[in-house]
Amino acid sequence: MIILGIETSCDETAASICKDGKILSNTISRQLIHTEFGGVVPEIASREHETLLNSVVHATLLESEIELPELDAIAVTQGPGLAGTLLTGISFAKGLGIGLGIPVIPVNHLEGHIFANFLENQFLKFPFVCLLVSGGHTQLWSIKGMERYILLGETRDDAAGEAFDKGARILGLKYPGGPEIEKAALGGDSNKIDFPRSLLSKNSLEFSFSGLKTSLLYFMDDFKETETVKLKDVISSYQKAIVDTLVEKVKRALSITGYNRCVIAGGVAANKCLREQLDMILPTKEIIFPELSFCTDNAAMISYLGELKIKLGKCESLDFSANPNLKLI
Ligand code: KG4
Ligand code: ZN
Repeated sequence: MIILGIETSCDETAASICKDGKILSNTISRQLIHTEFGGVVPEIASREHETLLNSVVHATLLESEIELPELDAIAVTQGPGLAGTLLTGISFAKGLGIGLGIPVIPVNHLEGHIFANFLENQFLKFPFVCLLVSGGHTQLWSIKGMERYILLGETRDDAAGEAFDKGARILGLKYPGGPEIEKAALGGDSNKIDFPRSLLSKNSLEFSFSGLKTSLLYFMDDFKETETVKLKDVISSYQKAIVDTLVEKVKRALSITGYNRCVIAGGVAANKCLREQLDMILPTKEIIFPELSFCTDNAAMISYLGELKIKLGKCESLDFSANPNLKLI
C-alpha cells in the first residue's frame, strides 16, 4: 500500500511517502519567514503552505520514485493546529484525492507524534507511558494499544515547547526557542541559577511552566554578565529546570502505571539535555525517542499512521474538516 502524507498544522510544509510501513521519503520545507516576527504568523503560514505544497509533494514523489497514479490513499493532518494552515493542507489533499479517485484519511497530529516512535522501531511493544512535549502540548499518556489511550496528566498553563520559545524571547534568542536555547546553553553551568521546578503535589502528573518563565523574566531584568555568572550559565540553568520537571514527571508516571517503557514524542523530544537526563535518571527503564527528524513536525508520521488507520478500516468519507482543537481522546 502506498500512502502520501501531508502535514500543514503549523509552519512546516511537509509531505512523505509511506509504502507498506516503510518511509520512502520525508520532505519538509520550514517557513523561515516567521523568524523575524519571533513566532508563527498564522495568515502568512497559510499563504506559504499554499505556495509550497505543490512543490513539496512533487519533491517527495520524485525522491521516492513514486508516480501519482501509484498512490492508494492520502493521509492529511486534521488537527490540532492553526485553522487556516490545516485547511490549506486538507483542501489540497481532498482536491488531489478526488482527482486521483482515492480515499483521503484525516490524521490526528498528536497521535502522529506518538506513532513517530514506531518509524524506527516497528516492534515497539504496548503498553507504554508517552511524554508528549510539543509547542502546544505537554501531556503524559498511558498508551495501552492503538486507540487505547488514557490521559495521566497535562500542563495547567504553558507547554514545555512554549517555555522554551517564550524563554528564548526573554533571553534575546530567535524562534523557535528550543534549538536556540539548546545551542546557547552549551558549555554553561546548569547548576548556577536555581530556577523553580513546579512539581505541584507529591504524586501530581500535571505540569506548570508559567512560574518558571516569570522567574526568568525577573532574573533577566537586572542581570549583567560577570566573570562568575555568564549568560550561558543562565540559559543552561533555565533549560535544566524545564528538563528536570519533565524527567521527574516521567519517573512518577512510570511508577504509578508500573510500566517499564516510556516513549517521548513531539518537538521537545529533540532536546539532548532531556535525552541524556532521562537515560541517566532512569537507567533501568526503556526510554525511546524518535530519530531527530521525526521529533519536530513532519509528514512521515502522518503517512505512516494513515496506513495503519486504513488497515484498521478507518477510511472515512471526504466529509471532514480542519479541527484546530482536535483531542487525542
Ligand atoms: O512538535 P513540534 O514541531 O510542533 C508542534 O506540534 O507544536 O514542536 C515544536 C516545539 C517548539 O516549541 C520548539 O521550540 C520545540 O518544539 N523544540 C525544541 C527543540 N526542537 C524543537 N525544544 C527543545 N529542544 C530542541 N532541540
Ligand atoms: Zn507537532
